[in-house]
Amino acid sequence: MAITYELIKTCKQSGARLGRVHTPHGVIETPAFMPVGTQATVKTVSPEELKTLDAHIILSNTYHLFIRPGHEIVKKAGGLHKFMNWDRPILTDSGGFQVFSLSNMRKIKEEGVEFRSHLSGDKLFLSPEKAMEIQNALGSDIMMAFDECAPYPADYEYVKKSLERTTRWAERCLAAHARPEDQGLFAIIQGGMYEDLRRQSAAELTSMDFPGYAIGGLSVGEPKDLMYNVLDCTVPLMPANKPRYLMGVGSPDALLEGAIRGVDMFDCVLPTRIARNGTTMTSSGRLVIRNAKFMEDFGPLDPECSCYTCTNYSRAYIRHLIKADETFGIRLTTIHNLHFLLELMRGVRGAIMEDRLLDFRNEFFDKYGLNDN
Ligand code: GUN
Ligand code: ZN
Repeated sequence: MAITYELIKTCKQSGARLGRVHTPHGVIETPAFMPVGTQATVKTVSPEELKTLDAHIILSNTYHLFIRPGHEIVKKAGGLHKFMNWDRPILTDSGGFQVFSLSNMRKIKEEGVEFRSHLSGDKLFLSPEKAMEIQNALGSDIMMAFDECAPYPADYEYVKKSLERTTRWAERCLAAHARPEDQGLFAIIQGGMYEDLRRQSAAELTSMDFPGYAIGGLSVGEPKDLMYNVLDCTVPLMPANKPRYLMGVGSPDALLEGAIRGVDMFDCVLPTRIARNGTTMTSSGRLVIRNAKFMEDFGPLDPECSCYTCTNYSRAYIRHLIKADETFGIRLTTIHNLHFLLELMRGVRGAIMEDRLLDFRNEFFDKYGLNDN
């Protein structure tokens, strides 16, 4: 099997898991946050910088690389790792989610999804088999099954039909997967906000032998409490000997609450996306660097941060760069935000080791505040 999970320790205070995911390109220490590199690049930062930040794994995307430059070109380059010069693990999402969130027109059928490229308007088709073909060509360490992420809110009957089709698609993905010896295929549990549908989806998918399982269909606009309720009922149904991945979640509070509930892996565009409009995460909460009050503030972005940005540059300078639309400004805020979340996860892993993750969460939020998303 291409992917194995090693449980190191369970936090006595919270039940969170400290572990390692073993992949052909190395080890991921969990709980882990995975920076997003949709277009085969984590926007504005180089692979060398990602290594300095100590990212163990990054995420990329079937939908985007299929549309541009095309998976055949990536394959000719020797696969995605070689193409983008990243030799650590890569996870690729299946395109299911992006077809629904990005493309203009789409028709969902049993066979797959017909859609128009958000770039060219060309008519394209993705199916479980096509998503496997693309991800096999990309050569990611972890591939995701082709699924449907139901919108929120959605009625019960719709979500039930959708998760049942996602199960049939997962079966087809398993059958079409050409490289199980060096690429691990994860299934995605759906079921919206309905507990019994989550149980149904988990039961159907765990009856098949995937090397890992994800929770999809969350962080789609529902209240946080609802998401935590769904996690409370879903995570215990996921195999304890395999990695558990919560898709599209990356706010500090959700990372902590997810880890406390037994989730091992997370990804989100949040730190990199907000960095590009000058919003930063600091130990005392969010800070919008464009704000005039930082005009003559020559201290670091976050006095408690040891990242490249905070070691070398001032709030006044970063504010100036962002206001002047200078690329270096968004590089600096991106590096800081990624460091902040990766450092948070190092803290989470340390706290699990010491059986004090609930205390760690409370101490974090005493400083960071709870008003964040
Ligand atoms: N990213 C965030 N949520 C989802 C989901 O439900 N499915 C997929 N494939 N990707 C996601
Ligand atoms: Zn910093």
